[in-house]
Amino acid sequence: MAPLARRVLAAARALTTPLLPEDFVSVWRPLRSKRAPGARVVDVRHETGDATTLLLRPGAPLPAHRPGQFVGLGVQVDGVWTWRSYSITSRPGDPLLAVTVTAVPGGLVSTRLAHGTRPGTLVRISEPAGDFTLPAATPEKLLFVTAGSGITPVMGMLRTLAATQPAVLEGAVHVHSDRTAADVVFGPELRAVAARTGLRLVERHTATAGRLDPDSLTDLVPDWAAREAWACGPTEMLDDLTDHWARAGDPAALHVERFRPPTWDDATGTGGRVTFAASGVSADAAEGQPLMAAGEAAGALLPAGCRMGICHTCVGPLRSGAVRDLITGDTHDTAGEAVRTCVSAPLGDVTIDL
Ligand code: FES
Repeated sequence: MAPLARRVLAAARALTTPLLPEDFVSVWRPLRSKRAPGARVVDVRHETGDATTLLLRPGAPLPAHRPGQFVGLGVQVDGVWTWRSYSITSRPGDPLLAVTVTAVPGGLVSTRLAHGTRPGTLVRISEPAGDFTLPAATPEKLLFVTAGSGITPVMGMLRTLAATQPAVLEGAVHVHSDRTAADVVFGPELRAVAARTGLRLVERHTATAGRLDPDSLTDLVPDWAAREAWACGPTEMLDDLTDHWARAGDPAALHVERFRPPTWDDATGTGGRVTFAASGVSADAAEGQPLMAAGEAAGALLPAGCRMGICHTCVGPLRSGAVRDLITGDTHDTAGEAVRTCVSAPLGDVTIDL
C-alpha cells in the first residue's frame, strides 16, 4: 500500500473505531472486504440428491489453489457467521471456483448450502488451504480411495490430471465406494474420465457389496503397497486404511484428508477474559472455549476460515497474557506471538491485536 493510502487508512481507522474501515467496505462492497472476503454464487449444479456444486466468483482474486485443497465458506445462521470447509472441485485457472457441498443429516450449514443456495447468493470465503495435494512430480503409480463425499478433493485432482497429464492416469487406480451407482457424486464424469484416459475405476456399491475395508481393497488392488495413495471418506474407513498402511505398507505413502472439527483432550485450566483490541470487544471464555468462539459470541467480527487450526486465516498477534494452543498443547505468552484464535484458549486475561 502506498504511504499516502496507509496514512488515510490509519486516519480512517481512528475515526471509525470501534468499527474498522474494512467493516464499512464490507457493507458497501461486501465482495471486496479484505477482512471478510466474499464470493458470489454464479451458478448451482445439483450432482445427486444430496450433493450440490456451487460455482463461485470471488470478489477479489484468491491465491491459486492446488488440486485437493479446500476453502472455508461462511454463511449467516441466525445472525452468526458460521463456517465450514469444502473441497475445491474446479481446476486451477478455471474461470469460476467450484466447491461441492454434501448435505449431512442435521448439518445446518451443509443443508442450507446444498439445498437452499440460489444464484446471486453472497457467501464469505477463505483462502485455499490444506496439504491433501499431489506432489510437484506426480508419482507413476497412483491409487485413490474415496467413499461418499470423500470424492470431492480427489475430483479436483482427477480433473486437473485428465486435462494436464492424462498419461499419468493410464496406470492409476481409483476405488470409490458409495451406496449405489446413482449415489456416486460425479459418477458419469468419473466413468467418462476412466474411459478416456485408461484410469482403472473400481466402484464398490455398499448396498450390495458391503463396506470397503482393507481386505477388500487388497483383493481389488493387489499392488496397493507399491502405489502412492490418497484417501478421503468416513473416519472409520480412514482409520482402517491408516492402520493397514502402518501394518503392511509404507505409512508415508498414504495421504488422508479428514473433515472434522478438532478435538482436544486437555483444556484444563484454560478460560479467562479475552479482549480483541482492534475490534474493541471483550468476552469471557469458558474453560476449553477458543478465543474466536468467545469473541464471536460477544459480537466481534473476526477473520476466520477453516476453524480447525489449518488455514491460519484467524491468526492474530498476542498483545498481553497467555494462551494455550488446544491442538498442540503449547503455551504462547510472548507479546507479538502469532496465535491461532480458532484453536487457542486463554490462560487468564488476554489481549489480541485483532
Ligand atoms: S480459521 Fe483456520 S486456522 Fe483458524
